[in-house]
Amino acid sequence: MSLVRDFFIGLSENKLLNSAAKKYGLKLGAQLVVAGTNVDETIESIKKLNAQGISCTVDNLGEFVFDKSEAIEAKEKILSVVEAIHTHEVDAHISLKPSQLGLDIDYDFCFDNLKEIVAKANQYGIFVNFDMEDYDRLQPSFDILESLSKEYDNIGTVIQSYFYRAEEDIKKYKDFRLRIVKGAYKEPEEYAYQDKKDIDDNYIKLIEYHLLHGKFTSIATHDHNVIDHVKEFVKVNNISNDKFEFQMLYGFRYDLQLELVRQGYNECTYVPFGNDWYGYFMRRLAERPQNLNLVAKQVFNKKTNTFIGLAAGAFLLGRLTKKK
Ligand code: FDA
Repeated sequence: MSLVRDFFIGLSENKLLNSAAKKYGLKLGAQLVVAGTNVDETIESIKKLNAQGISCTVDNLGEFVFDKSEAIEAKEKILSVVEAIHTHEVDAHISLKPSQLGLDIDYDFCFDNLKEIVAKANQYGIFVNFDMEDYDRLQPSFDILESLSKEYDNIGTVIQSYFYRAEEDIKKYKDFRLRIVKGAYKEPEEYAYQDKKDIDDNYIKLIEYHLLHGKFTSIATHDHNVIDHVKEFVKVNNISNDKFEFQMLYGFRYDLQLELVRQGYNECTYVPFGNDWYGYFMRRLAERPQNLNLVAKQVFNKKTNTFIGLAAGAFLLGRLTKKK
């Protein structure tokens, strides 16, 4: 299981395959978990979800940005999503990755890009969530959040329960709206729990803390055991439904999302869009290899076979090179 996870996480970090996939379009089953390639298609997907009582958080897919022009292009795209959310009056907010806005290039450059997006969203009363990436980007992302919060209150971020420091972070950032997740990247033992039970136990602990002491809580999981636990916990502790929401990814457990809405809970779908789907999709396969069913539906496509072959080859080559 861990080898399969490593395999897909390894693929998600492969820059060559990432750029090949960008040219390749929405393939390999990715179209089932990505809402569209452009803003118009994405707004249509959001309208359909809103009609079912589901709110949305929109993510312009993209990572491995090492070029300022690419980061500026991403910023412009996100600003156009903010504008579209406002114009179409859809129930949606923004999720973004600091690395896409230039965190790996230059801190101040990234800060300015994020500030422009947050300021624009603030004008329209739209919330902006800073998604959390891997450990190296954790502290700089918190730093930007803290600095911007002196001027803007429409921002929040993510706490990943696999990190040892998560408990300290959730206490420090309790006055922010927080999304709580288990964590999607491969992190070393030095910083993160490796055992699923430890991650799950910490996850529950963090959710309970923020529900009791924090601002609004987004519980982002497809794990029905966690969802059932939260339902019981809020009942026992008299926490009203407007203090929290459940979040799930676009294309995952749609029946459960609808059931939660029917039961009177707030449900928000994470709606990724764009051509840069590769890293996102590989992390979904790492989390749940059963998601390969999505790929299997495409497997008779010749181009797909070539791509999977290349991907597997690149992974094996990477492992052999590492062993040397
Ligand atoms: P997990 O994968 O641990 O599964 C637990 C159990 O739930 C499974 O054994 C199975 O029984 C059931 N289950 C799970 N998926 C299922 C499915 N599709 N169908 C049926 N049963 C299923 N990570 C990160 O590092 N930074 C971030 O910013 C975010 N943001 C984010 C937003 C949203 C909205 C979500 C849902 C997730 C993230 N994540 C994330 C990813 C997160 O960290 C985590 O990797 C995944 O959500 C997988 O963990 P789960 O808690 O969903 O269940």
